[in-house]
Amino acid sequence: MNFLPVSQESLEKGAEILKNGGLVAFPTETVYGLGADAFNPKALAKVFEVKGRPHFDPLIIHISSIDTLEKAADLTLLNDETRRRLFLLAENLWPGPLSLVLPKNEKIPGIATAGLSTAAIRFPDHETAQKLISLSSGAVAAPSANPFGALSPTRAQHVHRALGEKVDLILDGGPTRIGLESTVLDITSENIKILRPGGMPRETIEKLIGPVLSIQEQHNEHGGAHASPGQLKSHYAPKTQLTTLNREEIISKTFETNSAFLFFDNSTKDEWVNTHKPDKTVIVRVLSGNGNLLEAASRLFETLHELDNEKASKIYAQLAPQEGLGEAINDRLKRGSSR
Ligand code: TXA
Ligand code: MG
Repeated sequence: MNFLPVSQESLEKGAEILKNGGLVAFPTETVYGLGADAFNPKALAKVFEVKGRPHFDPLIIHISSIDTLEKAADLTLLNDETRRRLFLLAENLWPGPLSLVLPKNEKIPGIATAGLSTAAIRFPDHETAQKLISLSSGAVAAPSANPFGALSPTRAQHVHRALGEKVDLILDGGPTRIGLESTVLDITSENIKILRPGGMPRETIEKLIGPVLSIQEQHNEHGGAHASPGQLKSHYAPKTQLTTLNREEIISKTFETNSAFLFFDNSTKDEWVNTHKPDKTVIVRVLSGNGNLLEAASRLFETLHELDNEKASKIYAQLAPQEGLGEAINDRLKRGSSR
């Protein structure tokens, strides 16, 4: 049995497993992570194996306080300006859904960072994650606890279904609050870049440190090439074929037997229902009745997991407004659809 509710006892057991080179899945405020001791190359190799993750895709390293940042990062390599930005962001937005790319500490083995001299580091806003990290080595490498390319887990059951007994322990802390992975931000180069939009909205980051390059701007700059190792197009994909549509497109979309429609808000759903009068074979879901981006983000993977289980023939999903968390929602929907 590798599934336990969160308690002092299960946390201590989890920390012990990590110290001995095992894998522990744990909740964070974003999604469940598949944790390994960030200093143990063999444990890190297991993470790649269990996830079926290519070795060129680096892991995020989780810490449990700003004070322990230097366990994972080498801050002596930062210039004054980058250091200023780092602490501005860390002191205001940590703990939280923001991973910062920084020069790595030499004690972090190369396998964790796919051979890069930088590491993405984050201090999660979740008590269970923080306790587990501080009871273990203080630095826990954890990708999302799903097979590579599949939907991210927002519940312990998702982890169990996808990875089963390959994980030594799954700590069940209930559904995650944000439901989307962290924003990955590179602050080391002159042009600060969002490498992956996520739970920390771009606007919040920009209020503190000024303009940052968004995903679209980088695609233009790189002529469509990957901006970061993990920016593979087909990622976060449900098993069912997914098509993304804007509001006008989804309203005019006719249904087929057993197809599923995922609306962003009730007003779009109502307009579509009135137009098409769907029969009972059509599965209809709404991310957020009144179009709240936070609610929509927290329900996105959850709802896609559900639709996969319903065995719909196809999923048509409405894109969110491209602002705030909508940027991350649309990024996941579009990448889940490109197959
Ligand atoms: O919310 C999250 O970030 C979750 C929870 C568990 O914390 N973790 C997560 O990890 O989503 P993962 O491994 O699924 O995604 C890590 C992303 C990838 O896109 C990877 O390419 C990028 O972070 N990344 C990691 N290290 C990097 C580095 N040194 N430079 C650039 N990108 C990096
Ligand atoms: Mg992932």
